[in-house]
Amino acid sequence: MNQKAARINIAIDGPAGAGKSTVARMVARDLGYIYIDTGAMYRSVTLKALEAGLSMDDDAAVGKLANALDIVLLPGKDGQQVVVNGTDVSSRIRTLDINRNVSYIARLESVRKQMAELQRRMALAKGVVMDGRDIGTHVLPDAELKVFLTATPRERAIRRFKELGDEPGITLEQLEREIAERDRLDQERDIAPLLQAPDARLIDSTGRTIDEVAEQIVQWGLAIARTISTEEK
Ligand code: DC
Repeated sequence: MNQKAARINIAIDGPAGAGKSTVARMVARDLGYIYIDTGAMYRSVTLKALEAGLSMDDDAAVGKLANALDIVLLPGKDGQQVVVNGTDVSSRIRTLDINRNVSYIARLESVRKQMAELQRRMALAKGVVMDGRDIGTHVLPDAELKVFLTATPRERAIRRFKELGDEPGITLEQLEREIAERDRLDQERDIAPLLQAPDARLIDSTGRTIDEVAEQIVQWGLAIARTISTEEK
């Protein structure tokens, strides 16, 4: 990338399984930006809340627990490495148990407030690609590029099913139903629901390759960064 191009922030939102994290990681790599997986942060809080035996709707208790967590996201070989209070939890936050509980934790006001603050701080220096549900609408409303990435529930279930490997422990049909339920919880919650920002560009990744989608976002990002650099001259 042109050294003189301005650094921008890129927000990628969308439902579960739309390909956000893979695409966001590729875009960050191509632009030399930092990738931030905000879902991993909610998953980390969920893991710790389950371990502590907390009720998934106890806002005060889970908020207090979240406040005491040190969540660090590091670039890893196979995606983002997630370290909580010094322990690598990268694989433990990707289980069916976490999938089933995370939407409840993500509804809690005190948790959302803390995560959003942390995410904003991470993006202060610009040059981040952040994926989640409310990045373009709440966390980074001034992001220079906002993308809403989606795909049909069937296609998203097929992708998640493949990720679960040889012993998925669930049928594709069940997974599709669980994904639809998670969409519903994410879209209908009161605080920062999953929503396309009015100024976000929509990409439907059904039937498109991850490479195509990532390349499209990189091109948009470069064009915006160039325009800003020209205006700043
Ligand atoms: O992207 P993911 O599947 O890892 O996200 C896990 C959950 O966290 C998902 O149910 C929605 C929630 N989430 C959220 O509410 N806001 C974000 N910015 C990111 C994730």
